[in-house]
Amino acid sequence: MWDRNIALSCFALLAARSVAAADCTLAASGSDDAPAFLAAVAECDTVIIPSDTTLNVSTRLDMSTLSDTLIDLQGTIAFYPDIPYWSGNAFSFDFQDAITAWLLGGTNVTLSGGGTLDGLGQEWYDEFASNSSLLRPIILTVYQGDGVTIKDITMLNGPMWVNLVYESNNVVYDNITITAASTSDNDAKNTDGWDTYRCDNIVIQNSIINNGDDCVSFKPNSTNILVSNLDCTGSHGISVGSLGQYPEYYDIVENVTAINIRMSNAQNGARIKAWAGPDVGSGIVRNITFQNFIESEVDNPVVIDQCYMTDEDACAEYPSNTYIADIYFKNITGTGTDSVVASIDCSPDGRCLNVNVDDLSLTGPDGDAEYVCENLELSGNAVDLFSECTYTS
Ligand SMILES: *[C@@H]1O[C@H](CO)[C@@H](O)[C@H](O)[C@H]1NC(C)=O
Ligand SMILES: *[C@@H]1O[C@H](CO)[C@@H](O)[C@H](O)[C@H]1NC(C)=O
Ligand SMILES: *[C@@H]1O[C@H](CO)[C@@H](O)[C@H](O)[C@H]1NC(C)=O
Ligand SMILES: *[C@@H]1O[C@H](CO)[C@@H](O)[C@H](O)[C@H]1NC(C)=O
Ligand SMILES: *[C@@H]1O[C@H](CO)[C@@H](O)[C@H](O)[C@H]1NC(C)=O
Ligand SMILES: *[C@@H]1O[C@H](CO)[C@@H](O)[C@H](O)[C@H]1NC(C)=O
Ligand SMILES: *[C@@H]1O[C@H](CO)[C@@H](O)[C@H](O)[C@H]1NC(C)=O
Ligand SMILES: *[C@@H]1O[C@H](CO)[C@@H](O)[C@H](O)[C@H]1NC(C)=O
Repeated sequence: MWDRNIALSCFALLAARSVAAADCTLAASGSDDAPAFLAAVAECDTVIIPSDTTLNVSTRLDMSTLSDTLIDLQGTIAFYPDIPYWSGNAFSFDFQDAITAWLLGGTNVTLSGGGTLDGLGQEWYDEFASNSSLLRPIILTVYQGDGVTIKDITMLNGPMWVNLVYESNNVVYDNITITAASTSDNDAKNTDGWDTYRCDNIVIQNSIINNGDDCVSFKPNSTNILVSNLDCTGSHGISVGSLGQYPEYYDIVENVTAINIRMSNAQNGARIKAWAGPDVGSGIVRNITFQNFIESEVDNPVVIDQCYMTDEDACAEYPSNTYIADIYFKNITGTGTDSVVASIDCSPDGRCLNVNVDDLSLTGPDGDAEYVCENLELSGNAVDLFSECTYTS
């Protein structure tokens, strides 16, 4: 619903939109605010959600073709947890059966203002515990965007992945605080901070993430990505992949730098994962740098796994067709929860080339540390930490 007084001036301005740009302010209606929010972005250059306002979004938001729009979110956008509605009506993607509540895209679009997106995930976490095939919406998908900035926003309790960047270029996320935490015994599962898919030139920086799955994950065809100054707690790490899952696709992840990362109480730190086995896809992972990581209580601080989700025999018979080259693990320190602190496990016959390890200093729980590798020749000043790589062919 429009705020009454301001709406009057807004509509007055709308009449003269070609002459003057309009600022519109939204107010809560007491029922679904999605239609008013959609109308506002269609009509106004700047849409303000004031700090005392919580918009109730209970139907999906298609804002995929905006231009020159600022959403000034000072208050909160809450996604009403109508589980049957979203499971059946959210926007859906073929990729990993993902669904989303909100498509935000177009050119020169900004979402900022210090406010909050609230995924109201608790009901979802509890429902998912009894229905593992439940489709759960990603709160925000930057979709076919070019020149999109998301800045100074808190994202709470997403039902699933919190952010998906899909078929978009030139996207910046800056100063984002993500928290996904369950208050019941049912975990906040699959609450990735970010997933990128078919994207180029993405920056994710200066952000704090507390969640229950990947902190950031680069899915197929993610190129030229900078991830910098993140503090990730409870996550599954910063992951390239998984790649090579779908037989019909060639997957590319190239030119990625993840730098100045603090990773605590996580399953993984810096990770690359690719499928092997029959009936999988293929691809290339090239020029990836993981630099200046401080890890604390991480199960697998440094990982390359070219047998992801594949049993040992199938992996030996059908090695990964996703090749890996020019990888840099640099200045990674801290503690692991297992004595194996680095595991670089490649498929045979030169499927991993030019993997560099420099300035690694990781300790296991009893102060011991095992660095293991398979089927590649490492370079860098930390090579001597690794047990000699075994080769199979
Ligand atoms: C949000 O909208 C839904 C559906 O229109 C409604 O059932 C619910 O009561 C609303 N909640 C609030 C807090 O306005
Ligand atoms: C981008 O959009 C904003 C309005 O949100 C406008 O002020 C600015 O001039 C636009 N920038 C360009 C390069 O068009
Ligand atoms: C579980 O979720 C799926 C997908 O959202 C839905 O089709 C199915 O009906 C749900 N099952 C139950 C028992 O609720
Ligand atoms: C980051 O965003 C928060 C609101 O989420 C704001 O209070 C804070 O000032 C921002 N920090 C910077 C450095 O802009
Ligand atoms: C990735 O890009 C390559 C080259 O353009 C293309 O062949 C492949 O189908 C793309 N993969 C996906 C998952 O879109
Ligand atoms: C590797 O990627 C980085 C960005 O992460 C880029 O600056 C650099 O030019 C790339 N190097 C090569 C050889 O492509
Ligand atoms: C990676 O970076 C290099 C150097 O800037 C550039 O030449 C190459 O095109 C980039 N690769 C992709 C896939 O964008
Ligand atoms: C190594 O990483 C730490 C933590 O990010 C940083 O403070 C330090 O400056 C880095 N060392 C070098 C030589 O870059």
